[in-house]
Amino acid sequence: MLTIKLQSLIMNNQVKLDRYKQELAKIYSQRSQNYDESKWHSQITHRLVEFAQIQPGDKVLDIATGTGHVAIEVAQLIGDDGRVVGIDISSGMLEQARKKVAQLNLKNIEFQLADGENIDFPANSFDLIFCANAFPLMADKAATLRLWSTFLKPGGYIGLHSIAETGFTGIVVLEKVLENHGINLDVFHLSNTVNTIEKYQDLLTQADLEIISVEMENHGSYLSLEDTKKRWNLVYYPSPGNIPNPLTQLSSEEIEQMKAEFEEELEQLITPEGIWNNGTTFLVLGRKPVD
Ligand SMILES: C[S@@+](CC[C@H](N)C(=O)[O-])C[C@H]1O[C@@H](n2cnc3c(N)ncnc32)[C@H](O)[C@@H]1O
Repeated sequence: MLTIKLQSLIMNNQVKLDRYKQELAKIYSQRSQNYDESKWHSQITHRLVEFAQIQPGDKVLDIATGTGHVAIEVAQLIGDDGRVVGIDISSGMLEQARKKVAQLNLKNIEFQLADGENIDFPANSFDLIFCANAFPLMADKAATLRLWSTFLKPGGYIGLHSIAETGFTGIVVLEKVLENHGINLDVFHLSNTVNTIEKYQDLLTQADLEIISVEMENHGSYLSLEDTKKRWNLVYYPSPGNIPNPLTQLSSEEIEQMKAEFEEELEQLITPEGIWNNGTTFLVLGRKPVD
């Protein structure tokens, strides 16, 4: 029953999405107007672009572009001979990206509403493919990476950035509290496939990509208790294995009890600077062999 539900494709504007992705798209569209308030995202996407060493004239695909952090920075580096395509399932995120492009008057960039797991570009057409802060959200990571590698020119690169299992602190605490109640939420779907350097290396190898670099970098900052408590809202973040969300099966008393336990746990973590929000990330770079 659950599998049938997940596989049934539903139209959302012009992109066909299953229920998991419909929910994701809705969450990001709701968040789109405030998304750029997070300094972390722009810092980390800048780090990914820097890591990949863009060349003038490059043709670049930015998958799950969101409000275009990566795509817009790349467009400013590749010049008039280069081209960037940013794709995303959230029309709200793309609307913000398009507004920024219009303000900057960039002409070498376009955005398309599309599912990164179901895209079709000509083979061997991009020098670089990026996916920042979103690869773990792909339901079938191995198949998706294999698909993306077909769009790369020989010698082209795939650059991924994603959060490690230790981040973010509020989410780790949230998952622990829910686990104590028998609920496995796995926000951002980090477990099993993308939680170690070796697993990223393995995914690159399965996609016939050369491993150029897989690194973990320490990032983080202090957040106020109030802001960390807001992570509670992520209990409704969709996951392929959690449709419908398990909390919808619980009574309001049980949910309030878990929320109280979550807040108590956070209170134990307060320091004079606030709560340390661990933002450790993976930076991954693979290359398509030249033959
Ligand atoms: C955390 S945001 C990252 C946005 C941007 N890459 C950045 O780093 O700022 C995750 C984005 O992934 C998008 N997304 C999730 N699953 C997707 C999929 N299957 N195909 C395309 N976009 C997807 C969401 O709509 C959202 O905009």
